[in-house]
Amino acid sequence: MIRRILVWDVPTRVFHWLQALSFGAAYLTAFSERMRNYHVALGYILLGLLVFRLLWGFVGTRYARFRSFLFNPKESFVYLLTMVKGKPAHYLGHNPAGSVSVWLLLGLGLFIGVTGVLALQDDASDVVVDLHGLVTNVMLGVILLHLVGVLMSSILHRENLVRAMFTGLKSAESDEGIKRSYGWLGLLMMVAVVVFWFAYVKKPLG
Ligand code: HEM
Repeated sequence: MIRRILVWDVPTRVFHWLQALSFGAAYLTAFSERMRNYHVALGYILLGLLVFRLLWGFVGTRYARFRSFLFNPKESFVYLLTMVKGKPAHYLGHNPAGSVSVWLLLGLGLFIGVTGVLALQDDASDVVVDLHGLVTNVMLGVILLHLVGVLMSSILHRENLVRAMFTGLKSAESDEGIKRSYGWLGLLMMVAVVVFWFAYVKKPLG
């Protein structure tokens, strides 16, 4: 019997959408000196969210845990082949091909955040500053792939993955859903981000 089951807990969903939002806004504010404070605040938020996600990958709920989407390259390749043939296996969490983009997005996001903090130092080298910008452009390419993958997977499985990232719910025959959503933690994350934002942007430019 098909039923609606909970796959994504609230912290994972809050992480996802705040991360997408802060990355997009940090990108748009990167080109103007006037917007520097906003850009830096958004970068810190992104870094904080990513550090949270790293921890959540070890102690979070079933589909948020790293080991649930730790596939070897062969599994990802086979999944891609079956995707091209139009008959990919269905996964409740991240599938083996999508997981490649997830790992890349998390890794590149962390790299961009750390190089951003290093670039703020007085004695920052040009190499760090250049890497920060260069890897951001690589990230844009991976985000594009991520969006194409989400769209293709949604079409092939007739499953609205974007809606699932908002509601946390998927339709499945199995009873493999998670039991707790950790709404309080998601709320705490949102409050922390808002408080940090207002505290930081009030600071004079420095
Ligand atoms: C409007 C734009 C976006 C949409 C519609 C979208 C959609 C999604 C969906 C549906 C998933 C779940 C995929 C699955 O079911 O396996 C997902 C996961 C993910 N997305 Fe996005 N995404 C967007 C933008 C972004 C951006 C800008 C980033 C990075 C800056 C990003 C990073 C990630 C990551 C890291 C995950 C894994 C979530 C986790 O396990 O914590 N996404 N996205």
